Amino acid sequence: MDATVLSAPLIPPAPKVHARPLGGSVLGDVRIALEMGRNLIGAWSEADFDDLITPYRFMGQPGLVVSDPVGVRQVLSSPHFRRPVKLGRPLKPLVGEGLLLSEGEAWKRQRKSLAPVFTPAAIGGLTPHFVDAGATLVERLAGRDRANLSEAFHHAALDAVLRALFSRRADQDGAVLAEIARRYLEGPAHFRFLDFVGRGLDDLTFADGDRRRLGGRWLAAVDAIIAERRVAPQAGDLLDRLLAARDEDGRPLPDHEVRDQCSSMLAAGFETTSRLLFWATYLLALDPATQDRVRAEVQAFPAARVAGLDDLKAWPLMRSVLFETLRLYPAAPTFGRQALVDGEVLGHPIQAGGSVTISPWLMHRHRKLWDAPTAFRPERFIDQAHPWGHEAFIPFGAGPRVCIGAGFALAEAQIVLASLLARFRLAMADERPVLPKASITLGPDHEPEFVLEPILQAQT
Ligand code: HEM
Repeated sequence: MDATVLSAPLIPPAPKVHARPLGGSVLGDVRIALEMGRNLIGAWSEADFDDLITPYRFMGQPGLVVSDPVGVRQVLSSPHFRRPVKLGRPLKPLVGEGLLLSEGEAWKRQRKSLAPVFTPAAIGGLTPHFVDAGATLVERLAGRDRANLSEAFHHAALDAVLRALFSRRADQDGAVLAEIARRYLEGPAHFRFLDFVGRGLDDLTFADGDRRRLGGRWLAAVDAIIAERRVAPQAGDLLDRLLAARDEDGRPLPDHEVRDQCSSMLAAGFETTSRLLFWATYLLALDPATQDRVRAEVQAFPAARVAGLDDLKAWPLMRSVLFETLRLYPAAPTFGRQALVDGEVLGHPIQAGGSVTISPWLMHRHRKLWDAPTAFRPERFIDQAHPWGHEAFIPFGAGPRVCIGAGFALAEAQIVLASLLARFRLAMADERPVLPKASITLGPDHEPEFVLEPILQAQT
């Protein structure tokens, strides 16, 4: 291969962008609905990657797409906007009244009592669980020369979250929990027609028997773990910290709240982190030179030596690769807000009930906000002490409801990826591009096979 080809930037696959906006008529709205039903990120047009704010009408309802970082922060920080109620419908039977779905004073109180559970020091204390999850992933892949890494990361991320929450392994003492969580999150957690028609969290839920049944089994299983743990505390996982957490008046959290917080962390953290791992390995398989450089970092400081967050500083390129992955393939590609009162965003009026769409997918590829927005260039993050310094980078949201698990997800992803790269050189088994497809999270349009070439142990 000649040097010009080697030095050309990698432009990884993305769905086609429509030349002109699809909406503006009944037929256009139907096209948008169909495109978004297939792929939530499939309806954007060229103009969306140039414009910073776009008023629209969809099915008669007014709304705004906001990509301007100032407008995005205004909306995400304002008490006059809330998460759309309907978003909670598929998850409520699993996560109850936990942080993810709560609002107002209840949310404020919960966020405050959970803050100590997610400090860097507290996340540092969870790293042994991530090291064990990474080692288990590598054991599961040992001896194989090909693998479906999308599936493998689903298992590994579920294993990591169950270990970190309850000190249970997905393939052993946590197998029942893993089975219920996987069945719920891969099935009933997805949107259905009645979720769009129902007005509130509890309207038109007659067809939600599967959600209630599986959600009920999950909640009962977590209740049983909490009851056991009250009798025999066990240091070192999130459940212990939730049981030790205190509210503003110094009281412990009631059991049902501890349970709902555990369920919220699982629902918000499992599939998102699995997607991050998948897209990072896909990009590294397409860019073997960067993969080798990341491998050199993890060979110099193997995952098994990680004892806290400070140790992750040994892998600066790996961290930049993960940030660049979150930029190009944000695991949560779109989220929204609903206006509670009449107001405006950067001079554009919005009425009470109107929707604001905020799309990390769009912002992260926006032509006015990034250089070479579609290119894979992890170096863009390497000299930044703090990636959040880039105002257009919002993979974890922004404002008071920013992801509480960002540090957890990044620590887990770094450690699991380090374990994998130290043991295998990764390549794609065929050249078919893997396109991103969004429903709740941003997954692949098909689960490709990766070729795994073992790396001699002596070299690690
Ligand atoms: C790559 C992984 C992850 C991504 C991309 C991600 C993304 C996000 C985003 C964008 C939000 C804000 C949504 C909004 O404003 O409407 C959010 C909220 C949240 N995330 Fe994450 N997340 C990830 C991993 C995790 C993990 C591992 C946990 C838990 C251990 C977690 C727990 C939560 C919770 C509880 C909320 C709601 C916070 C609140 O409303 O106060 N997330 N996440």
